[in-house]
Amino acid sequence: MNKKIFAQLLAHSQNDLDKITQPYIQETFGVVVKRCETLEEYTQVIDDACLHRYFSKYWQNDMKKWKYSGVALIDEVNSLKPRAVLDVGCGYNEFKGKIENIIGIDPYNDRADLEVCTMDYKTEQKFDVILCLGSVNFGSRDKIIAEVGRCVNLLAEGGTMFFRVNPGIQHDRPEAKWIEFFSWNVPFIIELAEIFNLQVLDIRDDTNSRKYFVYRKKS
Ligand SMILES: C[S@@+](CC[C@H](N)C(=O)[O-])C[C@H]1O[C@@H](n2cnc3c(N)ncnc32)[C@H](O)[C@@H]1O
Repeated sequence: MNKKIFAQLLAHSQNDLDKITQPYIQETFGVVVKRCETLEEYTQVIDDACLHRYFSKYWQNDMKKWKYSGVALIDEVNSLKPRAVLDVGCGYNEFKGKIENIIGIDPYNDRADLEVCTMDYKTEQKFDVILCLGSVNFGSRDKIIAEVGRCVNLLAEGGTMFFRVNPGIQHDRPEAKWIEFFSWNVPFIIELAEIFNLQVLDIRDDTNSRKYFVYRKKS
């Protein structure tokens, strides 16, 4: 759950849902959402609407700015000769046509092959490579663990996952104000490897204080 949004709703309403009006939501968060029955449900739908608004209308990327986790990945991934690659939270799907056999999923960007979030992506297919570049980074520790677990599940045995993660740095634009950036750090990267029986192949500092790291799923 997005703690920033929940705390704001709680402070404003003091648990009186009638105080959470549509004008209040629009003025505070800049989004329109359906009527909800609980504060938790409001938090969920407002969080989703804020992510949608920001990533579909305002966020822009420049793949060239990343030292390790941008265009450098094209040759790196193709050299693995993958039969199938999944780009989780692909944004503008910039690897399409450059990395072979790639499918991009993203719930908030219509350039994705499938507009779906990590947890709702259903397939029987297993992927030799999965890219999680800035996309497993929103919300609570539990949500991050669940999303990484889902990716591990989609990865073939011996497959490789490439990550770029944000250590919790807020994006500058005002439209990103209510987005909760999870604070990734190296001990957590190692803890996840232990939880999901992954081998850590690499961890490096990328541009803008992001971390780049690579996991392999043990056979
Ligand atoms: C910082 S951008 C990175 C986009 C792209 N991977 C790149 O490196 O340019 C984060 C992306 O994650 C997507 N995203 C947010 N929540 C997601 C979720 N639950 N499942 C999949 N993608 C998500 C956003 O829509 C956005 O496109």
